[in-house]
Amino acid sequence: MSSHTSPPTRLTIPQVAARKASAGRGAPLTMITAYDLVSARLADRAGAELLLVGDSVGMVVLGRENTLTVTVDEIIHHARAVTAAKPKAVVVGDMPFLSYHISVPEAIRNAGRLLSEGGCQAVKVEGGLRCLRTIERLLAGDIPVMGHLGLTPQSLHRMGGFRVQARQTEAAEALKDEACLLAEAGVFAIVLEGIPAEVGRIVTEAIPIPTIGIGAGPYCDGQVLVWHDLLGLTEGLTPKFVRRYADMGSLIVDALARFVSDVRTGVFPSSEESYHISAEVAAALQSNHADPIQTTGRGIDDEK
Ligand code: KIV
Repeated sequence: MSSHTSPPTRLTIPQVAARKASAGRGAPLTMITAYDLVSARLADRAGAELLLVGDSVGMVVLGRENTLTVTVDEIIHHARAVTAAKPKAVVVGDMPFLSYHISVPEAIRNAGRLLSEGGCQAVKVEGGLRCLRTIERLLAGDIPVMGHLGLTPQSLHRMGGFRVQARQTEAAEALKDEACLLAEAGVFAIVLEGIPAEVGRIVTEAIPIPTIGIGAGPYCDGQVLVWHDLLGLTEGLTPKFVRRYADMGSLIVDALARFVSDVRTGVFPSSEESYHISAEVAAALQSNHADPIQTTGRGIDDEK
């Protein structure tokens, strides 16, 4: 399969759970965030197996400082645009801050809405032990869950910033234990974010389901990047785990600047880019106008 073709059919959640590259069960999984029709369509065409409607939408699309203000309605709004692309990829919707913290019934209702209204196939929940009971209840309600451990952006204030986690022995062991608990509970994959590569490897080897890393080194069973980071659409400092595969920001500015310049200099639109009246209509109109009406002689019906 070329790198530009999609997988023939959408993987099922059990098939994703069984894809464990580090154990020789398939190629590494790829997940890309997507927030609208175009990003979903293009990421799907590129062959990513999973699309994440991440709460990173708050930062990279909506211009907020962190993810804490993103709401369930906002994730649904973006998920609907993503699923409108009818992607072959599995669409995972992020459970935003406070959507699963207050009570289990509220968590089930919110997660269920991501599936029933957003069209997602699964939800992602940040945290381990502290939300284990909630995750178990979501799973019991037939809502597939992807875990998320390590640097969990919704814990920004507790962590004291976006800081690499599990650098020390005790924290690394605790992370591994939490990953095991989530796997035993039945999550189908776990995102590992912002942890040392060695810890990523230990956790990956400790659990039977795939780990999907972001800033978690090369030993995970898959990798995820944020659309805007990957394509060079973010400004300012980028974390070292981001690889920019294109400088789309510059390409877009260049294209837009050429449009602006062409309009200002009268180069756009050209006659070919305009609709025209027929010679007969021009002649009829001419009788009412002092100035000559010029026509190419081609009517609008000639335009294809
Ligand atoms: O919201 C998001 O984009 C995420 C990824 C960074 C994994 O959670």
